[in-house]
Amino acid sequence: MINIPIKSDTYIINANDFSVAGKVSSDIKKDLKKLGIHPKIIRRTAIVCYESEINIIIHSIGGKIVFELYEDRIVINSEDRGPGISDIELAMKEGYSTATNEVRELGFGAGMGLPNMNRWADEFRIESSSKGTLIKMTIFL
Ligand SMILES: Nc1ncnc2c1ncn2[C@@H]1O[C@H](COP(=O)(O)OP(=O)(O)O)[C@@H](O)[C@H]1O
Ligand SMILES: [Mg+2]
Repeated sequence: MINIPIKSDTYIINANDFSVAGKVSSDIKKDLKKLGIHPKIIRRTAIVCYESEINIIIHSIGGKIVFELYEDRIVINSEDRGPGISDIELAMKEGYSTATNEVRELGFGAGMGLPNMNRWADEFRIESSSKGTLIKMTIFL
């Protein structure tokens, strides 16, 4: 029973579409509020979702975020097609970013996305190849 999600939503994210940056995390936030989830859990979920969607927008050629709420946890799967991350250890370092100046001028590219996902998720798994990136994050309720 614990392996059947109470709620599951898939969000398609297009590359370079800054007009919707933050939309996925704010939608998920609203849903979790309605469901009466603890504000601390909502905050952590919103942070990791936000960083995932921004990374898909700025670093990939498109992807999706699958959100799942279970009785005991929230699972966020971020999956994209794109160049992937060749050196994950380096990419995980605070402040490391390959974002362009153009992207930085828009206020993104501080190099804190992956470190924050790792910090706020209870479980963080990342797999990447030259075809794309897969991140699975779990937050226990
Ligand atoms: N989905 C992704 N696809 C390709 N590269 C990525 C992806 N996510 C992160 N990266 C690489 O890892 C670096 C660090 O990511 P992050 O900590 O989120 O910082 P930022 O997004 O501000 O650059 C990025 O600059 C990029 O080089
Ligand atoms: Mg980022």
